[in-house]
Order: sequence, then C-alpha cells, then structure tokens
Amino acid sequence: MEQYNIAIDGPSSAGKSTIAKKVAARLGTTYLDTGAMYRALTLSALRKGADLESEPAILAVLDESEIHLTQVEGHQTVFLNDEDVTETIRSTDVTKNVSVVSSHEKVRAEMVRRQQRFAEKGGIVMDGRDIGTVVLPNADLKIYLVASAEERALRRYHESVAKGMTVSLEQLTEDMKARDHYDMNREASPLRKADDAVELDTTHLSIDAVVETVLNLIKK
Ligand code: DC
Repeated sequence: MEQYNIAIDGPSSAGKSTIAKKVAARLGTTYLDTGAMYRALTLSALRKGADLESEPAILAVLDESEIHLTQVEGHQTVFLNDEDVTETIRSTDVTKNVSVVSSHEKVRAEMVRRQQRFAEKGGIVMDGRDIGTVVLPNADLKIYLVASAEERALRRYHESVAKGMTVSLEQLTEDMKARDHYDMNREASPLRKADDAVELDTTHLSIDAVVETVLNLIKK
C-alpha cells in the first residue's frame, strides 16, 4: 500500500483525534496524537511541582520523563515512565495547564524532533496544532478542522459526562476558549492554518462524513 503523511490541525475538540484515528485505520498506517505528548509532559511537570512558566524547568522535566505512545488494537496508550497515563492526561488539571507547558520554544523543538522521527518510519496520520506548518511541512495532505465553539464545547461536555466526570458546560466553554486563545497567540509556532491546508468545518457533519471527505481528498 502507498504510504501517505497526513497532517490534521485545528482548535481543541474540532474532532481531530477521532478523525485522525479513523483515517489511519482505513489507510492501515500509524496514528500519532501529538497533543497526548504535551499532555504527558504537563502531567509529569505537575507531579514534580515544576514551575510551568519556566522553560528551563520544563526542559528538565522533559529530559527526565520517558513518554511513549503505543497502539494496541487500534487504541492509543500513553505511557509516562512505564505508567499507563492514557486517562490521567485528560484530567481537568492537565487540560488547564497544557497550553502554558507547550508554549516554550525549546520544548516544542524537542517534541517536533521526536514527532518527525515517528514519521520517518513510513506513512503516518498526525494530529495537533503545528503539524502542517512545522512538523510535516511536506505532508501529502493537510487538513484544518474547525467547528463552532458551541458545538466543540458540547462535544467535550458529552465526552466528559460519558466518562463520569462532573463538569459544567459554561466552565468547559470558557476553558476551551481560553486554551484556543493561548494556542493561537503564543509566539512559538502558534495554531494557524497552513497555506496549503484544506479547511473542513465539522459543525454539521457526522464523523463518518468527515472521514470519507478526507479519504476522497487523499485519493485525489
Ligand atoms: O489536542 P489536545 O487538546 O490534546 O492538545 C493539548 C494541548 O497541547 C493544546 O492545547 C496545545 C498543545 N499542542 C500543541 O501545542 N501542539 C501540538 N502539535 C499538539 C498539542
């Protein structure tokens, strides 16, 4: 099978990881959730009581933390120093702090190196914020997924409730908007659509419809 590199970027809860996972499964290639790498680093920094605003402190945490992503039967599992943290990295505490941790330029440079090494192994579908602009500038296809803020907050709300978390829709909406604002306005590789990316608005589209659209774009 031909090997493609696909970049999927966009704001939080636009459906990136759901779509990326399904597209990768259909193509029979690897999927990498780069947000999970920044989340694992954030969890590690929180546990160590590191100063999240300090680039040297976060670089030291990155150096001391082994972050591994594996795929077992289509499910991505995230390990931090051999501990399965797949669920823990989705906690409110990590979500609230991940933007600050991922804003440090040198931290991003190291993460990008690691992500590019993954892509050297063959075809990959990667999702994040800077995949089309920085990590895979020569990707075969770049998708920029968007959806209305209301729809994205609602999706996150339903996901959280299904996991048994107690959350308020208002608080989720506020946190999501704050995170997007931070991710789009940081100095180091902010979230933006690559010039050659195809923008897809998923507000009124089903997951399957988006997956089919992406697969058709790959065929083209
Ligand atoms: O996709 P996510 O919500 O799990 O990502 C968590 C945070 O990580 C997001 O708020 C910004 C950061 N991130 C990033 O800066 N660059 C990436 N390629 C992926 C995520």
